[in-house]
Amino acid sequence: MPTLLHLDSSADLKNSVSRALTARFATAWTENSTDHLVVRRDLHLDPLPHLPTSALHWAPRLRAPEEVVPAGAEQLQQVLISELLNADVVLIGAPMYNWSMPSTLKAWIDYVHVGGITSSIDKPAQPLAGKPLVVVSTRGAAYGAGAPGEPIDHEIPSIIQSLGTSMGMDVTVVTTQLTLATRLPALHEFAGQAADEMEKAAAAMTDLAQSLGSR
Ligand SMILES: Cc1cc2nc3c(=O)[nH]c(=O)nc-3n(C[C@H](O)[C@H](O)[C@H](O)COP(=O)(O)O)c2cc1C
Repeated sequence: MPTLLHLDSSADLKNSVSRALTARFATAWTENSTDHLVVRRDLHLDPLPHLPTSALHWAPRLRAPEEVVPAGAEQLQQVLISELLNADVVLIGAPMYNWSMPSTLKAWIDYVHVGGITSSIDKPAQPLAGKPLVVVSTRGAAYGAGAPGEPIDHEIPSIIQSLGTSMGMDVTVVTTQLTLATRLPALHEFAGQAADEMEKAAAAMTDLAQSLGSR
C-alpha cells in the first residue's frame, strides 16, 4: 500500500500556511486510491525529546565503548527510522523559524540522521537513497533567488544537506514566501505576491501528490 509519512512542525495550530499546504498534499494523496495510506507525525503536538546522548548519532558499531544509550531512546530512534523506511513518500511542513527550522523538526533530524545507519561513514549505508521527500517551507519574508535574503536562508540548505546529500533522499522543495504580508504593515505592499505564491504552492501540492502517488 503506497504510504505517505506526513510530518508537520509549525507551532501555529490555527492559521499555519505550511499545515494547510501539507494537509492539501495528504488529501490529494489519499484521493489517488483507497489503498493510499498516511502515517502522521506532528512534531509540535507530540515533540520529541532532545537527543539524550550524542552516541545516538552513530551506529552501535561506531560508538566508543564508554558510550551508553538509554534503551528507550534507542527504541524511539528505531521507530522514527522505521517510519521513514516504510514510507514511499515523505512530506515535511517546515516553516522558517529564525532563519532556520523549528527546533522540533531539528530534533527529528537529529534522531534519523545517523552515521553508519542512514548515512555512509565507514561503508556505504544510504537505505533511504532515492526516496522522494517533499519539503514545504513557509517564510514570512523573501529569500528567493536574487533576493537580499537569499544568503541568509539557513533552513533549506541544511535540510538538503542532511536528508538529501547525506541520506540520499530525492528532495523537492516547495516554498511560499511573504506570509507575513498581511500581519506586518511594512510588508502590506507584497500581499498580492504572497497570494500568488500561495496559489502556486497549493497547486504544486496537488500535482506532486498525484505524480508521486501514481508511480
Ligand atoms: C519563532 C518564529 C520565528 C520566525 N522567524 C522567521 C525568520 O527568520 N524569517 C522569516 O522570514 N519569517 C520568520 N517567521 C515567520 C514565519 O516563517 C511565517 O509566519 C511562516 O508562515 C510560518 O509558517 P506557518 O504559517 O506554517 O506557521 C518566524 C515565525 C516564528 C513563529
